[in-house]
Amino acid sequence: MQQQTVSVASVNLFIGSTVNENFSAFLREHHFHKIFILVDEHTLRHCLPRLMDTVAELEGAELIELESGEINKTIAVCTQVWRVLSELGADRNSLFVNLGGGVITDLGGFVAATFKRGIAFVNIPTTLLAQIDASSGGKTGVDLDGLKNEIGVFAEPRAVYIDPTFLHTLPKRELIAGFAEAFKHALIADVDYWQLLCRTEMANAEYWEEIIRRSVEIKQTIVKADPYEKNLRRTLNFGHTVGHALETYFLERGESTLLHGEAVAAGMICELLLSVDEAGLDSKSADEYCTQLVKRFPHIAFDQMANERLIELMRHDKKNVEGEIRFTLLAACGKPVLNKACSPDRILQILTAYHVKYVLS
Ligand code: GLY
Repeated sequence: MQQQTVSVASVNLFIGSTVNENFSAFLREHHFHKIFILVDEHTLRHCLPRLMDTVAELEGAELIELESGEINKTIAVCTQVWRVLSELGADRNSLFVNLGGGVITDLGGFVAATFKRGIAFVNIPTTLLAQIDASSGGKTGVDLDGLKNEIGVFAEPRAVYIDPTFLHTLPKRELIAGFAEAFKHALIADVDYWQLLCRTEMANAEYWEEIIRRSVEIKQTIVKADPYEKNLRRTLNFGHTVGHALETYFLERGESTLLHGEAVAAGMICELLLSVDEAGLDSKSADEYCTQLVKRFPHIAFDQMANERLIELMRHDKKNVEGEIRFTLLAACGKPVLNKACSPDRILQILTAYHVKYVLS
């Protein structure tokens, strides 16, 4: 198996079957006083044993277990973890290891970045979504009253170790949902990658490493140019203005059935429809992209009653300026258009169009 190291800013990012050897070397080099490993019930059972078997330097590490799910990505859960760290004597020479999906890497990164003003952490992402998106780029944080990532800081992990074979531990639905971020990377940056994804059977493990590499490369190029999301990095938000609103809406209703990738896929469809009038995307291409997404990702059955609430939620989006709801749209595949303000009426039309075209039909 191939191994690839991508060095971006201060982050060492390793991809491939030998990442555990890289992690061992890192631990031998640094002599941390204490090591803490954050897991959820799934990674405790399916991923931790493999990690412990292959990285002998983790012997004696303390385990901290969270309950999985976006609903637990809260400051209250952070407080519990900070308390455990404090009781177990974590200090500035401790290492915090995030073993899991996006909730673990977002929350764990935030906990580490703020405990005693910051301790070192590494990410070992175990879902496709976390491998190609959440684990790198330095965004950490938690939700506030369901609002996605409302509290957080930029903080880089010391390293990211991506082992594609962890994807075998995922339920199929979760694996597929992670591909939404890969399709997003293709739409914002690379038409050849889009075509590759359209040809690829997502459940076929043979392609995973290639897809992870290309997505990570696209993300890192953007993050390196604009680490603090002053402008260019907003391209990575394509599909997320609507997507995050949908996620919050479902969380508020106590329906934990919507996965982040599924919300982003629906968000991309809405934002492709919006791109036709607002960013000059030709309607034939928009149709083709929507058709491909609809084939792979589930329709989100929100009803017309949801629309007003979804718009209210979009008003919290971090891209907004002076009360205007701003989107990242597409003029074409690989040609994102940033900071496009759209009126609530226009957004309502698009949500209705999605509902009529994909929910009712
Ligand atoms: N997930 C989008 C970003 O890292 O900017």
